[in-house]
Amino acid sequence: MSQSLHPMLNTAIKAARAAGAIINRASLDLDRVTVTAKSHNDFVTEVDHAAEAAIIDVLLGAYPGHGILAEESGRARGAKDSEFVWIIDPLDGTTNFIHGFPVYAVSIALAVRGQVQQAVVYDPARNDLFYASKGRGAFLNDKRLRVSKRTRMLECLIGTGFPFRKGDNFKRYLKMFEEVMAQCAGLRRPGAASLDLCYVAAGWYDGFFETGLSPWDIAAGSLMVTEAGGLIGNFTGEADFLYQREIVAGNPRIYGQLVGILSPYSKAIPAESAAPGSSDSAPGHYSGRTAPADASGAAPDATAAFLAAAGPAPEPAAAAKKPAVRIRKTDAAQPPGDDAPF
Ligand code: IPD
Ligand code: CA
Ligand code: CA
Repeated sequence: MSQSLHPMLNTAIKAARAAGAIINRASLDLDRVTVTAKSHNDFVTEVDHAAEAAIIDVLLGAYPGHGILAEESGRARGAKDSEFVWIIDPLDGTTNFIHGFPVYAVSIALAVRGQVQQAVVYDPARNDLFYASKGRGAFLNDKRLRVSKRTRMLECLIGTGFPFRKGDNFKRYLKMFEEVMAQCAGLRRPGAASLDLCYVAAGWYDGFFETGLSPWDIAAGSLMVTEAGGLIGNFTGEADFLYQREIVAGNPRIYGQLVGILSPYSKAIPAESAAPGSSDSAPGHYSGRTAPADASGAAPDATAAFLAAAGPAPEPAAAAKKPAVRIRKTDAAQPPGDDAPF
């Protein structure tokens, strides 16, 4: 690495590489990986848990007073009242991982008073390390990242994610899909949101949108986008996207055009229950504002509200007690049953 990195970023990189080693080892023999269904189509493996534990050990080993918000263990470890909170997705793209489809990543962000300041997304299958520090740019390995320069939607490659959980509004998504698809050069759904955002930062995609994402899917990737000169926000173009379960990102021109298309589909939380600094514009109406270049998420107390709405994250021990189903790759690929929402 050519520049000297912030010590907290260095620690995050160390943690991400430790998790990546666990993931890479497990990927050599996927038949031995035990898979548990958290809910319809939403899987977790022992590898997610092991990677998460390794990450938290490294982070808290270096910064014992910091807080943790991790996908699998919630806030069970770490300080509960620190201004420094590590937001962790130990394995983003678990479904891909289970199938041996090599698009998944470790995602680690540090939020300080609700602002994402350090970010790492590590793709262990390619040994690609995306990282960013606020105000110091975003990088892939040694290379500085810049968002694309395209301005015409017709020429753009756009990334997205499909809704897949029970209760997701697939029909609503299909309308957005149809509108964006009709106006751009191509849509892609690789299946790891943290990487999708890095692909925007790298200029490989010109834009990205998805609904239903959680803070750990997007915290690190969001800093990559803004540090690469892009914009990120919710569907109405507001900057406090981290807890809102709808996200759009892109180079500045394409971001604005995507917000124009997607704002009618926004279900942005009402202003009165939104985090401080959020929009006062009506959901569904594009105010013309775009997220500022330093868009960085939401207020710290939004974490508690998000977790309360999402229900408690399983304690690691409780999750381990759930009956583990060893699924073969073909089982996981079954088409949705009658109870599927679409
Ligand atoms: C998932 C991936 C996927 C997105 C899902 C996420 P996970 O994360 O980011 O791209 O579409 O909504 O849940 O569950 O594999 O960590
Ligand atoms: Ca994820
Ligand atoms: Ca995950």
